Amino acid sequence: TGYITHDPGFVNTGAASSAITYIDGDAGILRYRGYPIEQLAEKSTFIEVSYLLIYGELPTQTQLSEFTEKIQRHTLLHEDLKAFFSGFPRDAHPMPVLSSAVSALSTFYQDSLNPFDEPNVELSTIRLLAKVPTLAAYAYKKSVGQPLLYPDNSLGLVENFLRMTFGFPAEPYEVDPDVAKALDLLFILHADHEQNCSTSTVRLVGSSEANLFASISAGINALFGPLHGGANSAVLDMLEGIQAEGGDVANFVQRVKNKEKGVRLMGFGHRVYKNYDPRAKIIKNTADEILSKLKGGDQLLDIAKKLEETALSDDYFIERKLYPNVDFYTGLIYRALGFPTKYFTVLFALGRLPGWIAHWREMIQDPATKIGRPRQIYTGYASRDYAPISER
Ligand code: CMC
Repeated sequence: TGYITHDPGFVNTGAASSAITYIDGDAGILRYRGYPIEQLAEKSTFIEVSYLLIYGELPTQTQLSEFTEKIQRHTLLHEDLKAFFSGFPRDAHPMPVLSSAVSALSTFYQDSLNPFDEPNVELSTIRLLAKVPTLAAYAYKKSVGQPLLYPDNSLGLVENFLRMTFGFPAEPYEVDPDVAKALDLLFILHADHEQNCSTSTVRLVGSSEANLFASISAGINALFGPLHGGANSAVLDMLEGIQAEGGDVANFVQRVKNKEKGVRLMGFGHRVYKNYDPRAKIIKNTADEILSKLKGGDQLLDIAKKLEETALSDDYFIERKLYPNVDFYTGLIYRALGFPTKYFTVLFALGRLPGWIAHWREMIQDPATKIGRPRQIYTGYASRDYAPISER
């Protein structure tokens, strides 16, 4: 079978050809379909970026209206799917709840099972974009013991999600435009990031010709881990821990440098960026503005900034080219928007959803796709004889 390359963590393996997202990690550049992330963050919207990632071009006004309307028509969940949420413990983590519910979509929409049936792939795409925000809002509602709201399809994607999350059935809910705008921006910044752990997972699962729902559910589980999407919750836990111990940033950084077990500077470092993460730069620049509008600033933001300043002037971090990544400042904003820490990674999943879908579709259409099946370097016994149990 020839020569096998051992590449733990796939650090040097190009597992796919892709025309979706470009990253230059040394220069700190990120582009979706060629458009710089800075321009999209400033001028675009999440729904437009979703269209761009999935279909390859920015939509015309007509295309955008049609896309928006199609999504609005599919936001409702099957009533039986709602029963699902009552089966989980109330204090369940919302990420496995979300991945289970997305997996369950395959049982409600069995027309989705053939990955080469293009009209149904299109339908599954719309269903996911429309229903995952509803599922995410219901995961929250169940965790706080509040009644579920039906979607209000006169609202935009983000506004509808906010209303279903924070509203009550009998009361009108005014969406705060600053909150909606901040969340829309964060979703744009999370929308794709080439072959990260969750996207590679979506592609790997999909390469077996598993359908879109099954593949995305697997991606959500990959995102759950603290070294990936779970880092946004972990950053906030870290900042609160530092605050509880009197705000001694230097002491915490020393513990990181001592490589104490389980102590990493969360929200720092990246496999590809060996420079400031351009997404973190945009979030840092807007965090002050957003936080002062929402809450009049945040003490934890001061700790985060001090932490960043300390790390960026320390040889340990300089030598290893460790800079803040996308997760470093997002948690502070999510918290100010009213989300509990445990829920932050669900917001990452909502943002990353169009990227996962775009990659699955690109993978399934690519004639060069083969089932993902890495090899291994075998390190076990060569060969030995079976011994009866009385002789072991
Ligand atoms: N704090 C302290 N040391 C670190 C950190 C950190 N956050 N990140 C990397 N290092 C050190 C690491 O100990 C190693 O040092 P040495 O060479 O002495 O052993 C060196 O830097 C290289 O690190 P690595 O773990 O080999 O790098 P990687 O590319 O395998 O890991 C990473 C990338 C993002 C998992 C890692 O930087 C990390 O654990 N960061 C904290 C978690 C985090 O913020 N994750 C979010 C990533 S961005 C968005 C996303 O994917 O969700």
